[in-house]
Amino acid sequence: MLSSKHILLIIGGGIAAYKSLDLIRKLRERGASVIPVLTRAGSEFVTPLSVSALSGAEVHSDLFDLTKEAEMGHIQLSRSADLLVVAPATADLMAKMAQGRADDLASTLLLATDTPVLIAPTMNVRMWDHPATQRNLATLQTDGVSVVGPNEGDMACGEYGPGRMAEPLEIIEAIEAAFSDGPLKGKRILVTSGPTHEPIDPVRYIANRSSGAQGTAIGAALARLGADVVFVTGPTDIEPPAGVQVVKVQSAAEMLEVVEAALPVDAGVFAAAVADWRVASESASKIKKKDGKMPVLEFAENVDILARVSQMKDRRPSLVVGFAAETDDVIVNATAKRKRKGCDWIVANDVSPETGIMGGSENDVVLICEGGSEDWPRMGKDAVAEKLALKIADALVR
Ligand code: CTP
Repeated sequence: MLSSKHILLIIGGGIAAYKSLDLIRKLRERGASVIPVLTRAGSEFVTPLSVSALSGAEVHSDLFDLTKEAEMGHIQLSRSADLLVVAPATADLMAKMAQGRADDLASTLLLATDTPVLIAPTMNVRMWDHPATQRNLATLQTDGVSVVGPNEGDMACGEYGPGRMAEPLEIIEAIEAAFSDGPLKGKRILVTSGPTHEPIDPVRYIANRSSGAQGTAIGAALARLGADVVFVTGPTDIEPPAGVQVVKVQSAAEMLEVVEAALPVDAGVFAAAVADWRVASESASKIKKKDGKMPVLEFAENVDILARVSQMKDRRPSLVVGFAAETDDVIVNATAKRKRKGCDWIVANDVSPETGIMGGSENDVVLICEGGSEDWPRMGKDAVAEKLALKIADALVR
């Protein structure tokens, strides 16, 4: 799949740079050639010798190397590649890219190219969550940069959270997706998935039975068709799809914030089982038992994310797909829901316990559009995802 592809790999200064050595090996095993660029900070983590030994190529690191400039200038270097991959992409590199700065070889190459760019960010959790980094991320995505990861987990700095660089195989999947000629290539699609957790106090929350299986299958199917997928998921046990940008959230309020920050997109698929209500005043400390007195929880309504996006004047995606989880009068309720929320399509399913759909591996859906409805036979959630993704491709590429 990657044979005869030239990948210009920029290795930034993060502890995850060691994974980039494995990435080089795996890219070459798949037939790609790697043109390595090591930033000054990157060379603190891996040596030019190991990078050049693994890539079988000369390592570029200096903007003002006159000998190399005479052989192959930095402009030509960046344009000789089929794809630029930045792994690890540090907070600093992302900031430089977002601002269009060109003060070293890596940033100059990134500015001098019109070749597609994929970044694999990695940094401390707080740095990743910082509004400045999130702003830079949004700018880069609007500029058409693809993003893989970061993943959640224990970090070298001793903290836990999103910030670990995606694994080499995940980066490879994202690279393959970037080269895929799928019908959704160049389309950016947002998918929400999983349940939300609405906190009661620091140890308790309200949740629902959504496993996130259908949303995950949809994210994967869209990525296979070449889409650049932003996958916003509530807490689940299943692995998010590979080759997509994953953003993990807990509550409906967090999901709304992330969804709004991800816009504009070409299409939005709202498969999450978002809680309709949150506890109005979350207790900052654990609610204690008091002489047999029952606590009373007051609820407040969450913003309907699907309706909010569907009714946007300026940033509405050209296709908005909602889901309807119903237990009675599925088609009547889902048809009314489509109108009320203002989305284009509704994927309606019967989630009564006897159907085994919520938490199960199969789904039985009716797709409701402006012009009528399509009753799909019961099939695996992967097959539903595949069929829906192809329909989305048809609608967007028409
Ligand atoms: N949804 C959303 N934000 C919410 C609630 C729901 O984005 N706060 C989206 C879901 O992702 C789904 C659709 O709205 O795509 C329908 O969700 P569903 O739970 O079936 O509908 P409700 O809005 O809860 O309506 P009802 O309570 O009448 O069933």
